[in-house]
Parts: sequence; C-alpha cells; structure tokens
Amino acid sequence: MKKARIGVIGCGNISDIYLKNSLNHEILEVSACSDLIRERAEEKSQKYSIPRTCQTEELLNDPDIDIVLNLTTPPYHAEICLSALNAGKHVYVEKPLALSRKDGQKILQTARENGLLVGSAPDTFMGAGIQTCRRLIDEGRIGDLVGANAFMMGHGHENWHPDPAFYYQPGGGPMFDMGPYYLTALVSLMGPVKRVTGSTGMAFKERTITSQARFGEKIKVKVPTHVTGLLDFENGAIGCIITSFDVWKSHQTGIEIYGTLGSLEVPDPNAFKGPVKIFRPEAGQWEVIPLKGGPTGNARGIGLADMAHALNAQRAHRANGEMAFHVLDIMHGIHEASVDGKHIQLKSRCKRPEPSARNIYP
Ligand SMILES: NC(=O)c1ccc[n+]([C@@H]2O[C@H](COP(=O)([O-])OP(=O)(O)OC[C@H]3O[C@@H](n4cnc5c(N)ncnc54)[C@H](O)[C@@H]3O)[C@@H](O)[C@H]2O)c1
Repeated sequence: MKKARIGVIGCGNISDIYLKNSLNHEILEVSACSDLIRERAEEKSQKYSIPRTCQTEELLNDPDIDIVLNLTTPPYHAEICLSALNAGKHVYVEKPLALSRKDGQKILQTARENGLLVGSAPDTFMGAGIQTCRRLIDEGRIGDLVGANAFMMGHGHENWHPDPAFYYQPGGGPMFDMGPYYLTALVSLMGPVKRVTGSTGMAFKERTITSQARFGEKIKVKVPTHVTGLLDFENGAIGCIITSFDVWKSHQTGIEIYGTLGSLEVPDPNAFKGPVKIFRPEAGQWEVIPLKGGPTGNARGIGLADMAHALNAQRAHRANGEMAFHVLDIMHGIHEASVDGKHIQLKSRCKRPEPSARNIYP
C-alpha cells in the first residue's frame, strides 16, 4: 500500500477532526500544513505531530506532497484547488467545491487535463446511516422512488463558530453551507437531478455574533438565508429541500424518502449514524433497521482516505468532484430559479458513487 502524503491548507475549526482521524488511516500521512495565520498551522503541527509547517506557496511546490487537503473557507476553495492541481497535486476540498459553477468546472477540467483527482466533502454519505438507507433502496424495500423531503432549519452559526462571518457571504448561507450534506445524501441515494426551481428570502439583514471570540460584532448578511427548492430527479422522483438560518425551531428535520412500497426515514446527513426507519404498509408501523455498511463515529476524512485507496487501486473514488459539482449546480439552480421565476434545467449529471466498502474505514 502506497501512503498518500497530505498537505493541509487551512488549519481552522474543521481541521482538528481531519487531523485526528487521519491518524486512524494507515494510507494517509500528513506531511505538512499551512495557514494564512501561521500560529494556527504551528498549533496543529504540534498537536498532531505534523513534521512541517510552511507557507502555502511552499506547500504547493513541495514535490513530496501527493494530495492537498483544502480546508480554507469557501471563497478560497477554487483558488487553492487550482493552484494545487496546476502544481501537479490531487486535491480534496471541503464543501462547497467552489463559489461559482464556472470555477467548479475549471477545477474539474484542470484535473482532467493533468490526470489528477478531485475529491470533495461531504463524506458523511459514506457513513453507516446513509449506507444502510442505500442498501434498503437498492434492495427495492421501498419500491420505485416517488419523492423526498429534506429539511435543515435553524438560526445560523453565530452562536458557536468563533469566526462566523463567512456563513453570511457568497459561498455561505444555509444552502451553500448545509445543502451539500442534504443534497449529496439525496443524490447518492436517488441519483442525479435534472430540473430545479425554488424561492429564497432573507429575514434578517444583520446578525450579531454571540460566540466568545467576536462577541457583539455585527455581520452584514449578503446571501439568502431561507431557501426552498424543488428537485426533479432524473428517475422521476420529486424532492423538496428547505435550508434556513431564519427559523428559531422546527419539528421538521432530516430527510424522508418515499417509494411505491413504503417510506424511509434517513438519519441526519451531517453525521455518520442515526436512526434508520422503514414503514411498509404490511407492517403497519415504522420499523428500526440496524445500521451497517459504514462507520458510525465522526469519520470526517473517510472520503479523503477512500481517494487515497482509489489512487492505489486505480478505481473511482466516492466523494468525488463530479458529484460535488452536480450539487453546486443544483444549489445555484435553486437560487437562480428564485430570481428568474422559472424552472432551471441542469446541465450537469453524476453517477451514484459505489456503496462504501469495509476496507476503507478503520
Ligand atoms: N466548522 C465546521 O464545523 C465545519 C463543518 C463542516 C465543514 N466545514 C467547512 O470547512 C471549511 C473551513 O471551515 P472552518 O470552520 O474550519 O473555517 P475557519 O475560518 O475556522 O478556518 C479556515 C482557515 O483557513 C485559513 N485560510 C483561509 N484562506 C487561506 C489561504 N488562502 N491560505 C491558507 N490558509 C487560509 C484561515 O486562516 C483559517 O484558519 C469551510 O468550507 C466550511 O464550510 C466547516
């Protein structure tokens, strides 16, 4: 097994779980890390025994790095991905893949031209929760797919994230921030979407930070914060998704998928486990299905490990750039539909990734 040497760019909030989990994957070796704020890289380097901290430019030009793990904030995703690919490195990026479709396409095209891989979060769909749902759907337990509802409603991240302004700038908002979990789960379970429409709103033009580091600071909201989309899947099923940072509380959470033979309760797509329940008319009640087929703990980074295995085995990786681009296309389509007052036919498509395999998680 050839280890993949990882260079981490962006040592903020989410980097801890990646760095912690990378220690559990024999195939991953974190060789260097960088951050605009050097102390952050130094802190992570000490905490996780990373051999080297350096400037981003240096990391990008290091011939001993195979994959750049891009954990910067969304406005920098495309720039860092493109620099990495142009420097001959594979790249795995946090969600969303990029801010614009144009940048997303450029990333995929540059990778193709250079024979390199693009991977992208989220990888939660590889967890036991959604993989159990995948098996039930593939076994025909709910019949042909009829529709789905996906709801993520809350009041934003300014009460816990130490530096939450980016959630209210382009690339943020509830759809670009949380939509990737819900849409990736839906696409991986139900296949690609061909047409979308939607409506978007913004109930609060300004936010006040109540987390500690920047307590009391105001954030100007620059993106819609209540986003409702309708999804026409290629297979004929119809989905509805609501993502919101404008709702104080809701009973409607998570994902349900409806089929001709029954209904499926899908666990929180921002986690790797959670209850999976199926309703079939002959049983007359919801039945809890034991989870199997993936990790149940916080396994963030499993998509990166799978990409490293895929490089060795020369096979497709699951949390891949094509699916991330399709999700980006859906999210833009919903926002555009609201402005233009029409349905948007999507040009992108992707394959459903292969179900998770035992050898990719510790
Ligand atoms: N925080 C979470 O719980 C969470 C969960 C899932 C996904 N994500 C995603 O992870 C990404 C990062 O989020 P975060 O919460 O860690 O943000 P953060 O602001 O805590 O960290 C981002 C880090 O990237 C650094 N950075 C930005 N641009 C850079 C550049 N050009 N070169 C080098 N370093 C650069 C910043 O200095 C910062 O330290 C986002 O895309 C976010 O959507 C975050």
